[in-house]
Amino acid sequence: MPERVRASSAHISPSAHYTGYVWYRHRLADPAFVTPFGRFVHKLLWPVTWGARAGFGLDIEAFLLQRHLQIDAQLTEAIERRGVRQVVEIACGLSPRGRRFCSRYPELQYLEADLPAMAARKRLLLHGEGWLDGRHQVRAVDILAERGNQSLASLLASLDHSQPVVVITEGLVNYFPLELIEGFWSRLATGLSDFPEATYLTELYPDLREHPRYRQLRWGVELIGRLTRGSYPLHYRDHAEIVTGFQRCGFARVQVLDPSADAGSLGLPAARLPGLVRVIQAQV
Ligand SMILES: C[S@@+](CC[C@H](N)C(=O)[O-])C[C@H]1O[C@@H](n2cnc3c(N)ncnc32)[C@H](O)[C@@H]1O
Repeated sequence: MPERVRASSAHISPSAHYTGYVWYRHRLADPAFVTPFGRFVHKLLWPVTWGARAGFGLDIEAFLLQRHLQIDAQLTEAIERRGVRQVVEIACGLSPRGRRFCSRYPELQYLEADLPAMAARKRLLLHGEGWLDGRHQVRAVDILAERGNQSLASLLASLDHSQPVVVITEGLVNYFPLELIEGFWSRLATGLSDFPEATYLTELYPDLREHPRYRQLRWGVELIGRLTRGSYPLHYRDHAEIVTGFQRCGFARVQVLDPSADAGSLGLPAARLPGLVRVIQAQV
């Protein structure tokens, strides 16, 4: 793994403060998840998010909510219909999902993971509120590490391999070039093949060139890249390419969901434009 790429990954972490504040604003998180930096960045970006909504009908917070609530819906189904009892959320950032699901499902084992500094921050936050216990834990992981105690293999080794598992990444994959993230997905599919049943949930932003707001989307992507001092490549052109890509990485069954098509069932207002975000449910 080139060191230059690994070193740049930590610059993504500040974005977790922004999304953490968005989850709080929409009543998905307790105040403990809010940081002064998240509140500040939200305020700073307000003219941009307002302009995108008023000028082009692009509601950035609506996109974030679509992905978050669709992943919640898939996870709920896995727990309630398929009896899943262990969940791993990689790149958890300041997401409140672990807290919400642990309080809703008392038998759930929930392992949150992120880069060391963010994992330490999250552990402190949850510990400070008295929310950490034997079934809700936080660990350090670096999805780019191919070996060692921060690798994906080491994280998965700590799980119960006789039980089904759901692995989540949210707000992570579009920060990396496709080749790099497909390397992670391949390692993940290999690791998940050791479980009796395993589901991976993630969201991604495809390169939807025919979308009526494609030009504005490219501006947004450029802005995210600049703010996180990296880039924000869009992966795959359409549904078929997504399925083929995940299958190439070792996932046998791949579902591509468009949360904007099902806004009502997620408790969201009807979308005014075709959706930009897709949620992928992939099984080995
Ligand atoms: C946009 S935030 C998303 C946080 C959270 N999932 C959410 O939706 O609110 C991206 C997260 O990815 C984490 N991250 C960045 N590079 C990573 C890596 N190489 N391995 C694991 N996590 C990483 C960051 O620390 C940050 O918490």
